[in-house]
Amino acid sequence: MTQNTGAFEALLQEDRTYPPPPDFAAHANIADPAVYEEANRDPQAFWARFAGELDWFKPWDTVLDWSNAPFAQWFVGGQLNVSYNCIDRHLNGPRKNKAAIIWEGEPGDWQVYTYRDLYREVCKFANGLKSLGVEKGDRVTIYLPMVPELPIAMLACARIGAPHSIVFGGFSAESLRDRIEDSQSKVMITADGGWRRGNIIPLKQNADASIEGDTPVENVVVVRRTAHADDMMQAGRDVWWHDLVANQPLTCEPEPMDSEDMLFMLYTSGTTGKPKGIVHTTGGYLTGTYATSKWIFDLKEDDVYWCTADIGWVTGHSYIVYGPLANGATSVMYEGSPDWPDRDRFWAIVEKYGCTICYTAPTAIRTFMRWGEEYPNRHDMSSLRLLGTVGEPINPEAWVWYWQHIGGGRCPVVDTWWQTETGAVMIAPLPGITTLKPGSATQAFPGIEAAILDEQGNEIGPGGGGYLVIRQPWPSMLRGIYGDPERFVQQYWSNYEGIYFTSDGAKLDEESYYWLLGRVDDVINVSAHRISTMEVESALVDNLKVAEAACIGRSHEVKGQAIVAFVTLKDQVGRSDAVIAELKQHVAGKIGPMARPDDIYFAAELPKTRSGKIMRRLLRDVAEGRALGDTTTLADPAVVEMLKEQYGDEE
Ligand code: WTA
Repeated sequence: MTQNTGAFEALLQEDRTYPPPPDFAAHANIADPAVYEEANRDPQAFWARFAGELDWFKPWDTVLDWSNAPFAQWFVGGQLNVSYNCIDRHLNGPRKNKAAIIWEGEPGDWQVYTYRDLYREVCKFANGLKSLGVEKGDRVTIYLPMVPELPIAMLACARIGAPHSIVFGGFSAESLRDRIEDSQSKVMITADGGWRRGNIIPLKQNADASIEGDTPVENVVVVRRTAHADDMMQAGRDVWWHDLVANQPLTCEPEPMDSEDMLFMLYTSGTTGKPKGIVHTTGGYLTGTYATSKWIFDLKEDDVYWCTADIGWVTGHSYIVYGPLANGATSVMYEGSPDWPDRDRFWAIVEKYGCTICYTAPTAIRTFMRWGEEYPNRHDMSSLRLLGTVGEPINPEAWVWYWQHIGGGRCPVVDTWWQTETGAVMIAPLPGITTLKPGSATQAFPGIEAAILDEQGNEIGPGGGGYLVIRQPWPSMLRGIYGDPERFVQQYWSNYEGIYFTSDGAKLDEESYYWLLGRVDDVINVSAHRISTMEVESALVDNLKVAEAACIGRSHEVKGQAIVAFVTLKDQVGRSDAVIAELKQHVAGKIGPMARPDDIYFAAELPKTRSGKIMRRLLRDVAEGRALGDTTTLADPAVVEMLKEQYGDEE
């Protein structure tokens, strides 16, 4: 069923278990297993209790309106403001002077924003946006490195009711252009660069290129981070962030937003070449991120919580900014690379700020494993009390290494399964309750009704595998794909009527623990980043030398999966290493460096069924050096035999 099934069979042999450390359980925010049953008896009442812990300008009338399924409405009639909930409501007590954001730049500079500081900076920038004519409902594209202005910009947008669309700084100018056009943003916020491994990422060049010619963007706000683009400001269009906020009032009334008003959109890869703008709204999204942060990360008043993700991805939205700040937590943010200036940078940060919680991706953990224990061993990491992972399945060795060498054998590891679409974590342990099994995301969060189904929609019981689905709506679920309601219904709700289809495969063990197996669609998970094979394929065929292309994800020890492209060249084009290099660069330029294929294989023809469908499954067999699976439906079996001869033994 999935590309990873073989590799993950072994995973179900895993029989080590880790019950909650008694001391941890004794102080956990939630330690009574009865919460599961309670929540599942009445999920709406369960979620409403969390929503009630937020500040509402106007209470809701109805918890859930599912009458127009799959278009859900949560906390209908209620009004609130996300920036008010993440900032203002913390200002009346001892949190006022608490660190909200601790930020460290790659060169070693650092800044602390208390909640009061954050309030002031967000208000000033919100006023700045208004002065540019941004109004409630207007979309704002944010293309920033990991600098404090990024969460400030998000919260300012939320304050005035302008949905943000953040584009990860690794995306190319062309990807940025597509997203700006789809969202019709009239303002873009960018920087003159960001630091990465001692180099400057040229964000302003990309930003400029993305709005050349016809564009909805009227103004560009530029953060001065690297002093690298002082000569690139375009009069009348570009304005420095520091100039924009210089004389703004220090307060800005938060806009009362309907619970179902859009908070943000975030583009993610699907099975077509065109990324989809996933829409999240206000009340439900905040309820979901608030609740899961509180229970899964067990957030306490004195925690120093660090999520190492980039805010350009959903993990950063939900678990650097909205979830932690709604809880009044201290959230750490780091700008740069984990190996700059040395491979101990993360652990130096843990020691320096006394981080108590660390949330990162399995691909990072596997990299640290390869680098060796000497790097964490250089630092006192006794402040840590809880660890988390996200983004891809974690192999048990990596889990146990993380537990031992980062957590010192005392910190529960919460493996959190979720998606851009789900807004918040869906399957994860509750660290004061759940006995952990390395490699398993364990159980659905209370109030979430997950299940595994077979092709026909029959539920798979313990011991079986199939497609992971969510049976009932949940507060932080996506409300749609921006501008494309049909694709929303088609993509997520048509495999099984009225049931959310995740596109992930999973197994249940005998104790009903979930073991995630990876995507079952044409999405590749490279270093915990979602890349669509279709997007890479269209980037390749966009090159004049290429006639046809097919991409697959090959298992990769560190990245989880690596992109391998099979390419047929146009008749007059000769095969050479130079062509390979050119094509890799072409893809990086079209989409972004994270989509650069690891390998490009030349094929005289691609293996297709008699109806012309490319059989990627067989290409995976070739790339992973396996015996070929069933080839009887191929139009011409010789095509794939030849590829196997040519490339099959490389691995
Ligand atoms: C995968 C990231 C296994 C999965 C939050 C999902 C995971 C996709 C896990 C979503 C996990 C995420 N175990 N697989 N703990 N977390 N995934 O939208 O395939 O960037 O569908 O959201 O990542 O990726 P996205």
